Amino acid sequence: MPNKTAPIGIFDSGVGGLTVFREIMHKLPDERIVYFGDTARVPYGNKSPETVARYAGQIVRFLESKRVKAIVVACNTASALAMEEIEARSAVPTLEVIKPGARSAARTTSNGRIGVIATEATIGSNIYANYIKTLGENLIVTGKACPLFVPLVEEGLLNDRVTDEVAKRYLTELIETDIDTLILGCTHYPLIRETIKRVMGEKVKLVNPAHETASELEKLLKANCLLNDEETSESESKYHFYVSDGAEKFKQFAASIIKYGILATKTINIEAY
Ligand code: DGL
Repeated sequence: MPNKTAPIGIFDSGVGGLTVFREIMHKLPDERIVYFGDTARVPYGNKSPETVARYAGQIVRFLESKRVKAIVVACNTASALAMEEIEARSAVPTLEVIKPGARSAARTTSNGRIGVIATEATIGSNIYANYIKTLGENLIVTGKACPLFVPLVEEGLLNDRVTDEVAKRYLTELIETDIDTLILGCTHYPLIRETIKRVMGEKVKLVNPAHETASELEKLLKANCLLNDEETSESESKYHFYVSDGAEKFKQFAASIIKYGILATKTINIEAY
């Protein structure tokens, strides 16, 4: 049984999960965190369920080798395709990002029309639409896959004309559906939130599932008596980052979006797990 001071494991295919890391770090400042970004195998969004489940299984084994007390799947694609595998492999409590995001959107909408943008795999799974239907029969969900957003974000083109153009191309049809709420259904997308906001206009509220996920995590840790109540000292290195490739590039990117000294990022061979 893990103890309260053990770290939380968070993973994504790349840098996107840092948007979830950021929320968790603010909400639960005394928690230690081990982050894994699968930068050698990103993107997940165009891969088969079998492949994503195999990757997720390896990552669970890696995180458990770091003695984590809980695992946050900070990736919508893995949440959509691999939860069965993750829950079967994991000996610690796990949390995905889709249900928290869907619940938050159902609370936010006034006209009952919700849009979801995500990877091809997440949209193809219909998981958001199916779950939102259970929250309110009258809710209408329109999904749109935006496959180029992930490579644009991974390349750091957060404020760029190319990203603007791609966003217009993807989002125009959503504006026509009269949605008043849009779920950023891929953890990479909050990093281009400003671009998406500009294209969608002021009337559409953007939902970042990371906020609700951080609150859910607090509840999950409390329920399992795993919330760390010991203060961790500032000097102690609370956060550890691992990637499957390109540690230096990841570190620079992470440092640009998280106002905390990202001390070190190590590369590991994830295929060995
Ligand atoms: N950030 C991930 C997600 O939330 C994965 C994106 C990808 O690798 O395609 O879906």
